Amino acid sequence: MNKQVQQAYDAWSETYDVDDNLTRDLDRTVMEQMLAGRPFPTILEVGCGTGKNTPLLAEIGEAVTAVDFSPGMIAQAKAKITAPNVTFQVADITQPWPTANAAFDLITFNLILEHIADLTFVLAEASRSLAAGGQLYISELHPFKQYQGSQARFVRDEVTTLIPAFIHHISDFLAAAASGGLTLTALNEWWHEADAGKAPRLVTFWFQK
Ligand SMILES: C[S@@+](CC[C@H](N)C(=O)[O-])C[C@H]1O[C@@H](n2cnc3c(N)ncnc32)[C@H](O)[C@@H]1O
Repeated sequence: MNKQVQQAYDAWSETYDVDDNLTRDLDRTVMEQMLAGRPFPTILEVGCGTGKNTPLLAEIGEAVTAVDFSPGMIAQAKAKITAPNVTFQVADITQPWPTANAAFDLITFNLILEHIADLTFVLAEASRSLAAGGQLYISELHPFKQYQGSQARFVRDEVTTLIPAFIHHISDFLAAAASGGLTLTALNEWWHEADAGKAPRLVTFWFQK
């Protein structure tokens, strides 16, 4: 368990939804573009945070399990999401997952994997938890932005807290997914309208089991 990351998100949880954050906003827009109208019976949302993307998943999924290791972030999500088909769970995804084999048709990761050192373990657990033919969606801060110093952070009382993060190259995602038996079906790069002429802000991957 990375306590520093967990405590930082507990602290950020109170203002995560309202702070200025172009990466969070772009992730939400891209999520809508990639997933709206695509039905899945069972969905696992990994690192749900305050539930920014959970309502969309509750619309397209029959049953959604939303997991996060920050009690503060989960509390914010629970306070605003009352959809009866969503179940919240506190769990650390760097430990063996509390999921049955082949339980999910879609697994999503949004803006969490920069905090995970070992992608191979996490994507192996995701693969184990996916049904045959199931889909895995990843949306992450683009490594080009990370090379330029971007990292999850928040400001409180004029003090900036940088949340510990790891740089994962595109090839790291592909290698970790392949070692878990997942096949890449799409890779896209995304810019916020404020990013014109700059490095891409987000990278998304679709993998299939
Ligand atoms: C930047 S927030 C993203 C939240 C949400 N997915 C979104 O797009 O708004 C990253 C989330 O990952 C969670 N997280 C980080 N490391 C984790 C771990 N090892 N296990 C479970 N959750 C973790 C944090 O608590 C936080 O809620």
